Amino acid sequence: MTKQVCSSIGLWLLFTLLLSNYVVDLEASHHVYKRFTQSTETKSPSVNQPYRTGFHFQPPKNWMNGPMIYKGIYHLFYQWNPKGAVWGNIVWAHSTSTDLINWYPHPHAIFPSEPFDINGCWSGSVTILPDGKPVILYTGIDPKNNQVQNIAEPKNLSDPYLVEWTKSPLNPLMAPDAVNGINASSFRDPTTAWLGHDKKWRVIIGSKIHRRGLAITYTSKDFMKWEKSPEPLHYDDGSGMWECPDFFPVTRFGSKGVETSSFGEPNEVLKHVLKISLDDTKHDYYTIGTYDRVGDKFVPDHGFKMDGNAPRYDYGKYYASKTFYDSAKNRRILWGWANESSSVADDVEKGWSGIQTVPRKIWLDRSGRQLIQWPVREVERLRTTHVNLANKVLKTRSRLEVYGVTAAQADVEVVFKVGDLEKADVIDPSWTDAQLICSHMNVSVKSGLGPFGLMVLASKNIEEYTSVYFRIFKASKNSNKHVVVMCSDQSMSSLEEDNDKTTYGAFVDVNPRQPLSLRALIDHSVVESFGGRGRACITSRVYPKLATGNNTHLFAFNYGTQSVDVLSLSAYSMKTAQIS
Ligand SMILES: *[C@@H]1O[C@H](CO)[C@@H](O)[C@H](O)[C@H]1NC(C)=O
Ligand SMILES: *[C@@H]1O[C@H](CO)[C@@H](O)[C@H](O)[C@H]1NC(C)=O
Ligand SMILES: *[C@@H]1O[C@H](CO)[C@@H](O)[C@H](O)[C@H]1NC(C)=O
Ligand SMILES: *[C@@H]1O[C@H](CO)[C@@H](O)[C@H](O)[C@H]1NC(C)=O
Ligand SMILES: *[C@@H]1O[C@H](CO)[C@@H](O)[C@H](O)[C@H]1NC(C)=O
Repeated sequence: MTKQVCSSIGLWLLFTLLLSNYVVDLEASHHVYKRFTQSTETKSPSVNQPYRTGFHFQPPKNWMNGPMIYKGIYHLFYQWNPKGAVWGNIVWAHSTSTDLINWYPHPHAIFPSEPFDINGCWSGSVTILPDGKPVILYTGIDPKNNQVQNIAEPKNLSDPYLVEWTKSPLNPLMAPDAVNGINASSFRDPTTAWLGHDKKWRVIIGSKIHRRGLAITYTSKDFMKWEKSPEPLHYDDGSGMWECPDFFPVTRFGSKGVETSSFGEPNEVLKHVLKISLDDTKHDYYTIGTYDRVGDKFVPDHGFKMDGNAPRYDYGKYYASKTFYDSAKNRRILWGWANESSSVADDVEKGWSGIQTVPRKIWLDRSGRQLIQWPVREVERLRTTHVNLANKVLKTRSRLEVYGVTAAQADVEVVFKVGDLEKADVIDPSWTDAQLICSHMNVSVKSGLGPFGLMVLASKNIEEYTSVYFRIFKASKNSNKHVVVMCSDQSMSSLEEDNDKTTYGAFVDVNPRQPLSLRALIDHSVVESFGGRGRACITSRVYPKLATGNNTHLFAFNYGTQSVDVLSLSAYSMKTAQIS
């Protein structure tokens, strides 16, 4: 019970306790949790909240579940503990939106009430049936603390907000048992189901057997009676528990989304993406490959392996993400959760923990080698004051301040151009881990080309800042190939010592002869950065002491030995979204 499913990680305090001690027992955690909760409840949440975000979805404690669109309305279900104190009380909280940005809260959609979910209603997904009816598959925790899969259906399909949900008396639909060899404490997070070649439904569920992580397949004719397939959709020996799997088609060329059950248009080539949240590392990984529909197998493309070395959606804080097909706008949308980097005491002080990242459109790059992510267009509606700079040269060791926008709540994109790639340092061939490169060579280490990028959430005299930047290396001495690294360095983000200030890094698959873009969504305590127009994403959480509210500054900078050009820099103040 201690290493819990995605859903329960939304219990921020307990999770933090688990981090410091994986063997902490349930009773002890309950006890401490209650104590902390009481102290937060006596505090008014609105007073002096420099870290509360303006346009990121953020209830007091949250977790991502099954998002969907129904009758033109977006639904966000997220895991929440209404009492804030009790481990076994996880519900599906529910908010709706018409634009993915402003949200309206509803009563809880699903909460523990029956033997098949009395100890918690954990993560799951929505499937839209061919007649348009949405159904939820979710993991319930039964009286023996076994993980079982249940179904819930809307009570009134004429209500576009789908406020009330009914659980089927046939629940649980899928239960672990000794015969089928499933571990009852490692059997959770059903995906959106899809229709196979034989008109039968398929769904996968995250699991593990010893160190083998796997996605177990179940099939059904009627969505109610499910049968376990003899073989999993995919597995990896050694990766440990697979949480929150996601499996969806992408079109080989173009950025439009594909409905989960689709076989593609005539002449359209589909690829499939398998994503898992690795419990061991707390990161979301994906693999691109082919779905063998007859054998019900996912076959990764050459060079891909579904383990802890697979590519990640985001190289910062990002977990338990999930996609859905947006039929209104023909796109696939990805949503993830970013937890806090502050100490337990600070989280208790501010009274909330965890945010949703801004929804991102996701599609396959033309190269076929990776996915591209970009914030949904709707977020641009929050843009107000605009500042534009063009054709500036950033000499070595220089900073360019961007005046005129609310730097604590902003959307900024800068496009760089480097002149002489010959001046790039040669990369050490043993440097295959971008995060290590970024932490060994922090922002104060000069190289030929870089660091150059953005300094965000910075104080006036640069006592505090978060730097998001690039370095360009030569692949080898006589090669004209280059390696681009993107870093997000939090080490100087706050005068406060007690935060997790891990530096993050990612390789960016771009040609550095072309303009190199960096976009950052800055929102008080979160920075979501997109390098190379969505080829590398890094989300970080920071808590400046000085650089809050109007005392926040924004800079473009270059600390490399060669100058770089800023072709353009476009910065916007961002309005606060309605999230109540
Ligand atoms: C179902 O929802 C519709 C639209 O909100 C409402 O008019 C109707 O009264 C509801 N029916 C029931 C039985 O609640
Ligand atoms: C079943 O899962 C539990 C909890 O993760 C673990 O302790 C146990 O070793 C697992 N058993 C097997 C056979 O994998
Ligand atoms: C939450 O934050 C902590 C500390 O910053 C980190 O170590 C942990 O991996 C995070 N958990 C998840 C699920 O991202
Ligand atoms: C950056 O790295 C240098 C050299 O490794 C080190 O001396 C310095 O303390 C580091 N600065 C920060 C802010 O981590
Ligand atoms: C910050 O600046 C804005 C615009 O100048 C102003 O309206 C607002 O009152 C200021 N806020 C604080 C807390 O000083």
